[in-house]
Amino acid sequence: MPVTPVQEDVINRLMASMTWEQKLAQLQIAFRPRLEDAAELVRSGIGAVFWPRSVEATNELQRIAREETQHGIPLLVGLDVIHGQRTTFPVPLAQAASFDPSTAETDARVTAQEAASGGVNWTFSPMIDVSRDPRWGRVVEGFGEDTYVNGVFGAAKVRGYQGSSLRDRDSILACAKHFVAYGQAEGGRDYNTVDVSTQRLRNIYLEPFRSAVDAGVATVMAAFNTVSGRPAHANQQLLTEILKNELGFAGAVVGDADGVVNLLDHGIAGDLQDALRQSFAAGLDIEMGGNVVADHGDARLGHDDLPLERVNDAVRRVLGLKVALGLFDDPFREPEYEVKSPTDTSRRAALKAAEKALVLLKNESVLPFGLGPKRILLLGPYANSTDHLGAWVQSFAEPAGSLADAIRRECPEWVLTVREATGFFGGEPDLIAQAVGDAHDYDAVVVAVGEPSALTGEASSRSDLRLPGVQEELIQAVAATGSTFAVVMFNGRPLVTSAWIDGAPSVLEAWHLGLEGPQAVARALSGVVNPGGKLPMTFPRSSSQVPIYYDHENTGRPARVSGTLDGGAVDVALMGPGNTDDHYTSKYKDLDLGPQFPFGHGLSYTSFEYGEPRLSAPEVLLSDLEGGQTVGVEIDVSNTGSRSGDEVTMVFIRDLVASLAQPVRRLRRFTRTSLKPGETRTLSFELGWNDFGFWDNDARYVVEEGAFEIHVGGGLDAAAVRSLHLRL
Ligand code: BGC
Repeated sequence: MPVTPVQEDVINRLMASMTWEQKLAQLQIAFRPRLEDAAELVRSGIGAVFWPRSVEATNELQRIAREETQHGIPLLVGLDVIHGQRTTFPVPLAQAASFDPSTAETDARVTAQEAASGGVNWTFSPMIDVSRDPRWGRVVEGFGEDTYVNGVFGAAKVRGYQGSSLRDRDSILACAKHFVAYGQAEGGRDYNTVDVSTQRLRNIYLEPFRSAVDAGVATVMAAFNTVSGRPAHANQQLLTEILKNELGFAGAVVGDADGVVNLLDHGIAGDLQDALRQSFAAGLDIEMGGNVVADHGDARLGHDDLPLERVNDAVRRVLGLKVALGLFDDPFREPEYEVKSPTDTSRRAALKAAEKALVLLKNESVLPFGLGPKRILLLGPYANSTDHLGAWVQSFAEPAGSLADAIRRECPEWVLTVREATGFFGGEPDLIAQAVGDAHDYDAVVVAVGEPSALTGEASSRSDLRLPGVQEELIQAVAATGSTFAVVMFNGRPLVTSAWIDGAPSVLEAWHLGLEGPQAVARALSGVVNPGGKLPMTFPRSSSQVPIYYDHENTGRPARVSGTLDGGAVDVALMGPGNTDDHYTSKYKDLDLGPQFPFGHGLSYTSFEYGEPRLSAPEVLLSDLEGGQTVGVEIDVSNTGSRSGDEVTMVFIRDLVASLAQPVRRLRRFTRTSLKPGETRTLSFELGWNDFGFWDNDARYVVEEGAFEIHVGGGLDAAAVRSLHLRL
């Protein structure tokens, strides 16, 4: 972290008087120790601890650090406040669906205020692992499949946590994680092997970290996985050459929980000392677990294990963070100001975030139901469930209510009948029959289904992406009654809906939306809120279609939707209508082409129309582009319906001919606009040097001359196309 001369002086004086052991003790965070053990560790000089769960306990540990250790170095106090401390916001994947980065920034600000008031000064967030495989449970923690979206949302989170100055009492250190390419774990199985090409590493996985570093992120966490055979924790090329030297990251690199110890199982280190030596030599600055110093106080690394300069560099980085936070002046927090429950303001912010994250997947004139009197039957495991907070929720967070209760509050004129009818993993067919038997007697049925949050997050990969248990049967049974109905899905990853989607007239994607999630859903069902989010990840047709993502390469034999049969060479009975083009093309014979719902899909209760896009110039000289000239893109968007609504507009590029195969589309800008009925707005975007190029296999950023397409519109399908030439 950049430090002032006075701060530099503080660090220099400390460094001059610290022993080798005292320095190493600063380079570790004790992993959730018992309070008595934590106090002892702090006395022995440890530099960081996990939050001991109360402001009083934190103050006591800081007091020990200040008064009972030789140098009085205050503590970093870490906690995973990923999407809320007391007030839980939507899971990050849902925040990305808002396509409004202010959602993430507000979450991080509120979260930092709540956490900092209890003595936390460091969070392990944001996760900016680009995720293209929904089997991986951790997709819920990040911002989806697009590199640019992860960069923009990651930077917004960093700004929110770290505030305008780290010295402010409500600012905490952010941590961009997991460095790097963790999202490409083979088979979507957590902790699994990652093997990436240079161009994929740089174009897909590294860019969000560049954005986080540019936003001033104070710490970065190494990933559990190997990258091309070398675990990230012991990967000097990644941690030192790329992250610190090339991206210019001046903060501290922290290991993941026992990530250094895991080098033994990776088969990279023979013992703990070897693992520690390799990690710190590679560029790690803080080990997570507390293994650097043994229980009896001796450092596990001797002078022969690591160069003094490397240790000094790591210690300076850690002390730099403590100085930047102002901890040497005052590490304490007043217990009377600890925020222990949500406030009206934080609840309102969480509600707004939840409303913005809703995605209307399908709507055949069923939704919204309106606020007026009507008889509604609410069915399904999420009718009464309070499982809305999502993965990475704090045990002491304010609990959420149920959808049923929220509907009673938000839609007081509805006459609501609630039948839970089916469990997630069991359920008997005759229970379903009883639940839906009189569905016809109601004005409408709401089927609240989902994926428990315990099936999402770390170590929660799934091989089958369908709704668990008998929920598909429940939806099918409702459909068979011919009643008017809407499905609401509560989940933390893209799900496969193919068994029931065609029979469901309306489907609202409600993710795990946090404390105010049920209220947001009730308001969307009635129409008080008009959903305006879009999908940040592709929803596949089948679990075996993954990975499937929008910015894929074209391949040499792309399958095209044409509707013509290829002379009976393939068994049409096995294929959907789109999949009948040509035998020797890239596709599955037994699936329709393309995903169920593409990245960027999302409907509204109103309708939007776009005018013709305008480019500032049809061609640009590469040298001008490199010199800072930009290409302007303008488009008019109008609300042509009868309700107010939000529209997300996206700008994609396609480089038509390049020296490396390029994605069929690449998102470069997006914006979310609120429009009243009849209102038209002109949207303007600027694209520059950093938008048109790519990283090649020699790790060089190149912008190549030639023809580009600029696609502008409400999503992949709706985009209008303009041509642009970059000339030498
Ligand atoms: C996770 C990290 C997290 C850490 C500390 C690990 O298991 O991978 O994302 O920050 O635990 O709780």
